Amino acid sequence: MGLDKKYKTGVVWQDFQHGELMDLFIRMKAAREGNTDNEKFNYTVAFLSMYVNHHFKLEEEYMDIYAYPDREAHMKEHQTYIKKLKAFRTNHKTYSETAMDQLMDKIRAWILNHIMGDDKKLGAHIMAAEKAMHEDEAT
Ligand SMILES: [Fe+2]
Ligand SMILES: [Fe+2]
Repeated sequence: MGLDKKYKTGVVWQDFQHGELMDLFIRMKAAREGNTDNEKFNYTVAFLSMYVNHHFKLEEEYMDIYAYPDREAHMKEHQTYIKKLKAFRTNHKTYSETAMDQLMDKIRAWILNHIMGDDKKLGAHIMAAEKAMHEDEAT
């Protein structure tokens, strides 16, 4: 499937991982429409928890490496999302249509607000920092 160009930051690992989230969303949508979302629910919630921990950690490591100026604000967004996800898991221990719809809304909002916003800014910073590094090496 892969990630649509408009979502891309240009950073390979970041685009790859954002693509994984997009793929999950597309699969959720298909499952919801085909009424197989009941069996997908537990997997989706588990995957998402694992995914955010792993993905946020990696972005935060890069913020450290390249001294990202908006680090605090970006990390706060990550932490808020993790909290929201935890609250969701507490409130929806088992499948319901409402739970699935809420989860899809959360992922959709995250892609549109965070990936298209903060992550793109971070991506541009990483790209610029890596470019500057290679230029230093060349001279
Ligand atoms: Fe991200
Ligand atoms: Fe992020």
